[in-house]
Amino acid sequence: RKKVTIHHLQAMRRSGTPITMLTAYDYPTGRACESHGVDITLVGDSLAQVCLGYDSTTRLTLDEMLHHCRAVARASKAPFLVADMPFGTYHTGAEDTVRNAVRMVREGGVEGVKIEGGLEVADTVRRLTRMGIPVMAHVGLMPQRHTMLSGYRVQGKNAECALDVLRAAVALEDAGAFAVVVEAVPHRLGGYITRAMRRIPTIGIGAGKETDGQVLVWDDVMGTWCGDKAKFVRRFGDVKGEVARGVRSYIAAVRERSFPDTAETYGMPEIEWEAFLA
Ligand code: KIV
Ligand code: NA
Repeated sequence: RKKVTIHHLQAMRRSGTPITMLTAYDYPTGRACESHGVDITLVGDSLAQVCLGYDSTTRLTLDEMLHHCRAVARASKAPFLVADMPFGTYHTGAEDTVRNAVRMVREGGVEGVKIEGGLEVADTVRRLTRMGIPVMAHVGLMPQRHTMLSGYRVQGKNAECALDVLRAAVALEDAGAFAVVVEAVPHRLGGYITRAMRRIPTIGIGAGKETDGQVLVWDDVMGTWCGDKAKFVRRFGDVKGEVARGVRSYIAAVRERSFPDTAETYGMPEIEWEAFLA
């Protein structure tokens, strides 16, 4: 399969070919993205919640993120590989930000980093881009700010907020971002932002069908959980059901001694046990 590059992604936008992005957190999920044709694999900081059991992405450390990036990177060749800069790793000044982004690339093995924010992160995007680290912007609902937002809520519903999101996306393209994630905004705003971009693709999540691509969280796509489901999630698999069937059948087979059967055990020649035991 052909390596996906930034050039390739921008050509997909021009030709109107939808871009597919999916999160991965470890070697098997990275392998699945590699094998089945995902364009962009994202080691999302949703990792904090769906894999590590934290209640918020703000709990995730850089070292935890790097550990998972390395696993996904070992599985990932063709997809463009991006990871979230964890909360707090790009807010404490230019030097820290550069040092942390360099670790993501050098130790984590990712090709680009994603950062949440609007106009206030434009300088950061510019700095990383100029030193050769591709940046994916993320506007609209920014989960790292869920406390300030009083929850995970749709953004840009009134004209003033919508304009803020639009201006942010434009400024981030100008700052050099190679793509922009647009999360949880009305579908018409997703369309406006997409048309306002000059060359970079928009990747929507809960932003309607007019963005250049779509992204979802692995566990939402697969139905690993069946708890709360955001309005914009569609489940394409039933992993939870498969896992329940597998675990229950295993337990039942052990308890009724139908597992293992002879074909699942090793044989050996007859031994005169009595001679040894005498
Ligand atoms: O962390 C994540 O999974 C994300 C995507 C849903 C865009 O940021
Ligand atoms: Na994220």
